Order: sequence, then structure tokens, then C-alpha cells
Amino acid sequence: MSEHINEIKRRRTFAIISHPDAGKTTLTEKLLLYGGAIHLAGTVKSRKSQKHAVSDWMEIEKQRGISVTSSVLQFDYSGFKVNILDTPGHQDFSEDTYRTLMAADSAVMLIDIAKGVEEQTKKLFWVCKRRHLPIFTFVNKLDRFGRTPFDIMDELEKVLSIRAYPITWPIGIDGSYIGIYNRMTKTVELFSADNRRGNRPLTNTTGSLEDPIIKDLIGVEYYENLLNDIELLDLAGDEYSIDKIKQGELTPLFFGSAMTNFGVQSFLEKFLELSLPPQARELKDGVQDDIIIEPENPNFSAFIFKIQANMNPAHRDRIAFMRICSGKFEKGQPLYHMQTAKEVKLSQPQQFMAQERTIVEDAYPGDIIGIFDPGIFSIGDTICTEKNKMQFEDFPVFPPEQFALVQPKDSMKRKQFVKGMSQLAQEGAIQVFRQTDSSSETFIVGTVGTLQLEVLDYRLKNEYGTQLSINNLPYSLSRWIVGDKTDLTNIKGIDNAMLLVDTKERPVILVNNEWSLNWIVERNPKLTFLSVPTDARKI
Ligand code: G4P
Repeated sequence: MSEHINEIKRRRTFAIISHPDAGKTTLTEKLLLYGGAIHLAGTVKSRKSQKHAVSDWMEIEKQRGISVTSSVLQFDYSGFKVNILDTPGHQDFSEDTYRTLMAADSAVMLIDIAKGVEEQTKKLFWVCKRRHLPIFTFVNKLDRFGRTPFDIMDELEKVLSIRAYPITWPIGIDGSYIGIYNRMTKTVELFSADNRRGNRPLTNTTGSLEDPIIKDLIGVEYYENLLNDIELLDLAGDEYSIDKIKQGELTPLFFGSAMTNFGVQSFLEKFLELSLPPQARELKDGVQDDIIIEPENPNFSAFIFKIQANMNPAHRDRIAFMRICSGKFEKGQPLYHMQTAKEVKLSQPQQFMAQERTIVEDAYPGDIIGIFDPGIFSIGDTICTEKNKMQFEDFPVFPPEQFALVQPKDSMKRKQFVKGMSQLAQEGAIQVFRQTDSSSETFIVGTVGTLQLEVLDYRLKNEYGTQLSINNLPYSLSRWIVGDKTDLTNIKGIDNAMLLVDTKERPVILVNNEWSLNWIVERNPKLTFLSVPTDARKI
């Protein structure tokens, strides 16, 4: 049992949240480099080519050293077992990213020093905040001209309402920096002149702040400035509080440059020390006696947070990713799928490392395993043992914001079309609706961003051989309607709305805006309008 506890304690499972281009891929590569998981980071080709057509996105991602489909990267560092959950870094509001955060125990928020807190980061931050995840901030691109660290702290507070505790602090003035000062170790790290894009861990010039050589290297002006900054932080800054960090109320702040591999190691080490090991998870009310499951509980449990079809085009497989929450996973052990009430055999459980897959012999809470999905799993499903049944809380649902009418261009491809659409709906890539009076060849698709529609188009063509005709609809809000059948049939004021059913035949209405919605709500006092279905939790 104590071995089990040790395995849990040394695990760190986290996601990096950022706006595209802040340097998430670069930072991930550098972390893997420290973990010895890759031998030479920075070998990824120029990514400039990726900034064009979205339809190329998946192909391009596949060509990356770290692809969007690898999903989870595991490595060992200094006694820790680190699981990085890879989140696709596209501009679009992505449900997939939010779901991935459900599997994390902490988050690293990556900010571009020149750009500060950007849109995507904001949205992801709030998801982490709601989950009370500890959030660690890494301000990247210190090698470039940027904002002052006080401005960054100010922005964190104003935009995200979170106070920061700087662990490292840039040395320099007005956006030009030459290194960092570590407030914990009271040491200085100065940029190395080497500029091989950080494809090896660099030995930078380091030393104590008191060291005359260091003082000399920093120069009088920067040195004085640094002393003033430190004094100000000590006097007026927040007190260090590990409890507040763990609650996600105070964010430890680090500065560095992922590209030149500067400040990354000091960040990694402090992050591993302060971040949380696997945490207890909430169970669904009324299914079992307990309301939470602790990772130390010997009974195996896991939930599925991501399903990815056709990861390997040659094999047409479909992989469900599960996060282990309690107990120990051993290859070949019989498990139980709560939602279908059936025993499942996980014959080839896999772990993913960059593009390599390896078969897992055993795994512990915090670990992520990919299992072959014969088409039975859905997002949020529970895997446990038949003897100790339990079920996790439902996953939050994200109300769609964009809608489109989708049909196959060639009606002969109807079968593949329906199959592809339902598989993608099951993966949670899209939400699918149908008009009650139309044929099943027309689907209304709801998404939270345009990228999802483009991915749908691409995947239907490439994986199911079906060209789509997609027509955007002018609606931006959906509501699930609950009420009496007669009231539903006689629903009033819906001239400008569209009435649909979801895949579970529940009535849904699409409207253009809040005003139209209020119009309908006022005219139908006996009906209830919900932003997510009754059995779903809203994020
Ligand atoms: P993302 O996954 O968050 O979208 O960002 P990614 O790592 O792809 O980095 C986006 C761009 O920012 C890349 O430049 C990358 O080299 C650069 N970058 C990352 N970290 C740093 C840093 O610490 N300093 C500086 N100056 N740049 C950094 P690119 O021009 O788009 O691609 P590439 O040609 O450099 O590969």
C-alpha cells in the first residue's frame, strides 16, 4: 500500500493554458528535454507555415514533433512522474481543451511578455478557476522586448482577479532584460550568449546577488533597479502562502524564455515542488454511498475525457483517453464500464509519448491511458471494477454558439455521412440536432467555434469519404425546452426561431439573440428554457 501512496505522491498531471503563439509547444518541448524524453528539442520545423488554412491544420499537427493527437506526454524528472496534457493551441474556443482540463490537477498559464493576458488564456483561466486548480504563471519570451513585470502583475489582477507571487523576477529596465533573479534561492541567472535556440539545457551564468562578478555583469543601473524591485515586492507584495497557491487564489509567477531555454529548469523544479499530486474526484450523487473518491482508495476508477477517432489513418482506430482517479491499473485486469453495465477488456492499453505508443503494464492515479474504443465509450464515462461500482459526476456541457445545416453533397454517400456524423458527435467534437420533420440526411450542427466546423468538413472528407455542404445558420443561442407536451406543441412566438431535437430526442430551440429568446420566454410561461440539457452540468 505504501508503494501505491508513493506512486501517487510523485505524480504531477497538468495542462498548459495559453493563447496561440505564446510558446506552448516550445515550452512543452523544453520540458520534455529536461525529462530526457526527447534528446534534442527545437528540431521541430518552422511553424510559420502553420498559420494558414485551417483545413491543413490536422495534417500539419501530425507532422509536428509533438502533435495534437499525442494528447498526453509522460516523463520522469528528479523522482517525479510528470504527465503533460497537451491541449490544441488553436485560436478557436475549443471544447476539447476544456475537457482536457477536467483531467488535470494543476495548470500552467503561459503568457507572452509583449502581449500580456490574451483572449483564449482568459477563457481557459476561468475554467481552471472554477475547478479551483492551482495555476502557475510562466511569462515567456523574456529574450524579447516586453512589458514590465509590474504591469504583468497588474494585468493578472485586473483582468483575471488573481494576485501573483513572483518567484523569479526579470533583471533589466523597461522591457529589456538580461536575466532573472530567484527570490527563493536569492540567486541570479543571466542569459547565456549561446543562441542555439535552446536545443540543449544551457549552463547560464548563475550566482549569488552579492557576488561581485555577478554585480559587475549586471551593471550598476540594472543592479540598483533590481534591488529596488525586490524591496518593493517584499514590502508591498503578497505574502507567500502555499495554501492560497493550492486553492488557486495566488499564482506563483515565473519569467523566462522557452525558445532559448532560459528560466525553464528553475520553473520546472519549483512547479513540481509546489503543484498538487492527484486529487480526489467528485462522484455522481445517488449512485454510490460516497460523494468523492480519494486517489489512495484501492478500488480502481477512471473517467474518459477525450475520444479521438482515426489517430492512425492506416488502422482506423478509435482511442478513448481515460484518467485514472483511484486504485492501480494492471494490464489484463477485467474492468467494468458503468454506462453500458458491461465488462470491458483493455487488451492493449497504451501510453503516448510524442508519436510513439507504448503498451502500459501498470498505471496509477494521475496517469492517462489510451484504450481502443469499439464505439461504446462517451466523454465523461466511468471505468471501474464490477465489484466496486462507482460513477463520476457528468462532464460539463458547453452551450453551442454557432450553428450550421450540414448535408452530404452526394446523396449516395448517405450511409458514410450518418456514420461519420454520429461518431464525431459521440467523440464530443460537435453537437448534432435534427429538425423533427426533416429526413435524417440533414443535420444541424452546433459548435463553439468555426474551427470545429472546418475540422468536421476535413474529417468527413478524409475519414469517411464524404464531401459536405455546410450552410451557416443565423442563430447564436440554443435552449433546451422542458415542459408539458401540449405546451410544447403549441409553443408561441417562434417565427424567427428554429425548433429541433437533439440526439436524445429532447426539444431544443435556436434563436438569434437574447432579445428573441426573451420574446419567446415571455410568451410561454409554462415552459422552461435551459442553456444545457437537464442532465448536464454547465461549465
Ligand atoms: P504555441 O504552441 O503556443 O502556439 O506557440 P509556439 O511554441 O508554436 O511558438 C510560437 C512562436 O513563438 C514561434 O515562432 C516560437 O519560436 C516563438 N517563441 C516561443 N518561445 C519563445 C521565446 O521564449 N522567445 C522568442 N523570442 N520566441 C519564442 P515562429 O516564428 O512562429 O516559429 P519558428 O519559426 O520560430 O518555429
